[in-house]
Amino acid sequence: MTNLERIETALRAYLSANIPEPLCEAMKYSLLAGGKRLRPMLCLSACEMTGGSQEAALPLACALEMIHTYSLIHDDLPCMDNDDFRRGRPSNHKAFGEANALLAGDGLLTYAFEVILSEGPKYIDNAPRYYEAAAQIASGAGVKGMVAGQWADLSNENNASANAEMLSYIHARKTGALITAAVLAGGLVGHADAMELAALRDFGTHFGLLFQITDDLLDVEGNAEKVGKTLGKDAAHAKLTYPGLYGIAETKKMAGREAQSAKDALQCFGTRAAWFLKLADQTLLRSF
Ligand code: IPE
Ligand code: IPE
Ligand code: MG
Ligand code: MG
Ligand code: MG
Repeated sequence: MTNLERIETALRAYLSANIPEPLCEAMKYSLLAGGKRLRPMLCLSACEMTGGSQEAALPLACALEMIHTYSLIHDDLPCMDNDDFRRGRPSNHKAFGEANALLAGDGLLTYAFEVILSEGPKYIDNAPRYYEAAAQIASGAGVKGMVAGQWADLSNENNASANAEMLSYIHARKTGALITAAVLAGGLVGHADAMELAALRDFGTHFGLLFQITDDLLDVEGNAEKVGKTLGKDAAHAKLTYPGLYGIAETKKMAGREAQSAKDALQCFGTRAAWFLKLADQTLLRSF
């Protein structure tokens, strides 16, 4: 089985638990709608690169995807970005109504930590590192990470005096924090030493920024069908973005520099980092 297949199978299995049906349907609608599975792939790949067993990383990887999917459902709500399309289909609130979408998101977020904690006792031999990985995920998703970034993103709509410092604050948190948590969690349940964990953190910081810069670029010049969401929304909402602040040409140069820094961060892993190096190159050129 490939890592992607492992993730898809495990996500389906977790959602076949005894969750009341209409709620479960709304959670599945978004979770099983075919996202790129970037964060769980980063987690499993970091575990693999540091010589760990995939088994311990898999619940963490699935939890990361549940948290990410909750963030998308809430991000699309009318009170946030008000987006009608996601992952190539009507957004969750368009299909189930706002209150149910809110609850489907709450359900995915809470279930993510139920999965992490209930699988924990199986990894008792490695308990301190498993729980440190869980703490990294909580902090990347939470008030020091993604939630803070989403707050700042919304607060800076139509802010004519917003600056470069605020832009990098937003992107590092709304997107970078969970991506960094994904690679750290993988390294922690793997056998990464302190130097390798620092390298993974450095990679997450640069790759996370690269990923959100290219998301900003796709919103300006992507193909809506391929991207699976309505484009042109950042300008319509006067969001603080890289193309908005620096223009397209300069933004592309900055993305190139972030891709290079992300790759440089993993030098200590030598050829074991091949999957990550390819991912950084592909992300720079991504069309979805
Ligand atoms: C979209 O994330 C939101 C951002 C943080 C840029 P992805 O581009 O990873 O979305 P999916 O998971 O593939 O749908
Ligand atoms: C979203 O950033 C980051 C999240 C935490 C969901 P965006 O608002 O740019 O993501 P998209 O473009 O809607 O996917
Ligand atoms: Mg948003
Ligand atoms: Mg959005
Ligand atoms: Mg976007």
